[in-house]
Amino acid sequence: MSTEKNKLTTSWGAPVGDNQNSMTAGSRGPTLIQDVHLLEKLAHFNRERVPERVVHAKGAGAHGYFQVTHDVTPYTKASFLSEVGKRTPMFIRFSTVAGELGSADTVRDPRGFAVKFYTEEGNYDLVGNNTPVFFIRDAIKFPDFIHTQKRHPQTHLKNPNAVWDFWSLSPESLHQVTILMSDRGIPATLRHMHGFGSHTFKWVNAEGQSVWVKYHFKTEQGVQNLAPDVAAQIAGDNPDYHTEDLFNAIANGDFPAWKLYVQIMPTEDADTYRFDPFDVTKVWSQKDYPLIEVGRMVLDRNPDNYFAEVEQATFSPGSFVPGVEASPDKMLQGRLFAYSDAHRYRVGANHSQLPINRPTSEVLNHQRDGQMRADGNGGASMYYEPNSYGGPTESTDHKPAPFQVSGQADSVGYDHHDHYTQAGDLYRLLSEEERARLVDTIVGAMKPVEKDEIKLRQIGHFYKADPEYGQRVAEGLGLSVTQQ
Ligand code: HEM
Repeated sequence: MSTEKNKLTTSWGAPVGDNQNSMTAGSRGPTLIQDVHLLEKLAHFNRERVPERVVHAKGAGAHGYFQVTHDVTPYTKASFLSEVGKRTPMFIRFSTVAGELGSADTVRDPRGFAVKFYTEEGNYDLVGNNTPVFFIRDAIKFPDFIHTQKRHPQTHLKNPNAVWDFWSLSPESLHQVTILMSDRGIPATLRHMHGFGSHTFKWVNAEGQSVWVKYHFKTEQGVQNLAPDVAAQIAGDNPDYHTEDLFNAIANGDFPAWKLYVQIMPTEDADTYRFDPFDVTKVWSQKDYPLIEVGRMVLDRNPDNYFAEVEQATFSPGSFVPGVEASPDKMLQGRLFAYSDAHRYRVGANHSQLPINRPTSEVLNHQRDGQMRADGNGGASMYYEPNSYGGPTESTDHKPAPFQVSGQADSVGYDHHDHYTQAGDLYRLLSEEERARLVDTIVGAMKPVEKDEIKLRQIGHFYKADPEYGQRVAEGLGLSVTQQ
């Protein structure tokens, strides 16, 4: 017998008389359609899934706070960064990229590092990765790139041939491929990796002056990685290893933390820097633009409910707050469209009303209706603008900073085509043991590639980064660099 408090009810709130036996015509008779509780239960179950994210489907999330430790008001008027000591609640979702919702955590893949700051001037989403660069630098290549990372349309298997075919024909990927194939390609846990905004963004201060900015989250736990054989074993034994580790650490009071740093570039430097600073396949030298400490992020609370918080969380690189704006990075520009579009499809037009996505600041606008509108829909308040009756109006002091554009409209790439120097610099920074492991991983990953033509093309890129790099991969594959 249930007490009044824990009385089982239908979705319309009426008490359920029997939740174990469906209503049948006699004890062996067919089931009656009038058992509406049964119908509702089965029908709702059929609708439990929302589409998984087209990329970054497998993830783990946590709540926490961000606290400012250094004054950055000369660079940005962002309210959450306005004072040393100021704390802002945040939510983070970590993810792998290519695998499906149930895939293993300890695979070689970049990790998503998506942070939502619930600031008093709206939600600011920083949707980054654990790597400072990306494989491509123009949004138009993203769907093709991701097709090569996902399953083959006929076999439904992962396809190394497509992966290396695409990379070898997209040499801008070399820097990120080198990071991915290095020890950092498989983090020990989600706590033991850095995070990056990766793109260049614009910060604008209270005087309306702009700078270019890149974000770096440095783990206080230290960087630790998994050896490939250990990672493979864990993937079999416990595919949710990273998810479990994060949850348990927080549950046990061992709160992971990251320090946030930025690199700041004066806007005029962008015209003269030795490569295009908006190209997301490049890092800015820290000698040119040293790290400036901003604050500290601490994760101290697990989600109460995975679906409500982690699965339904929607992060958009276009969710800016006053003081943070876009840069002309061609990848970022495409992302400004892609995410909110994905959210409307995956979660629904009113996704921003869900508790995990709802800003702590008041949302006041003239958007109304739509599926699953759940917040009172603006009641009887003003629903159009301009009007003669009042209601919310724009604040002109929050217009984005004006900026100059010039040039002829055309489908053109970045001017700079050196895809090799930074990948080579990274190779040369590695110890002999790290180089040996890098080459070993690449050789293992490239062995299944069907065509020597693809392997040789890729070896050519490694060679241009550093002749030793190319030679060692070629040797491992039983090929010669002179063949390419
Ligand atoms: C997730 C598109 C590049 C980091 C997603 C999603 C889409 C997408 C559609 C799923 C969103 C959702 O269903 O909620 C794109 C496109 C890109 C691009 C079109 C290039 C033009 C990048 C880059 C980064 C990145 C460069 C990192 C620097 C992430 C992360 C997530 C994600 C972290 C998961 C967010 C979450 O946890 O919900 N991306 N992406 N993406 N992307 Fe991208």
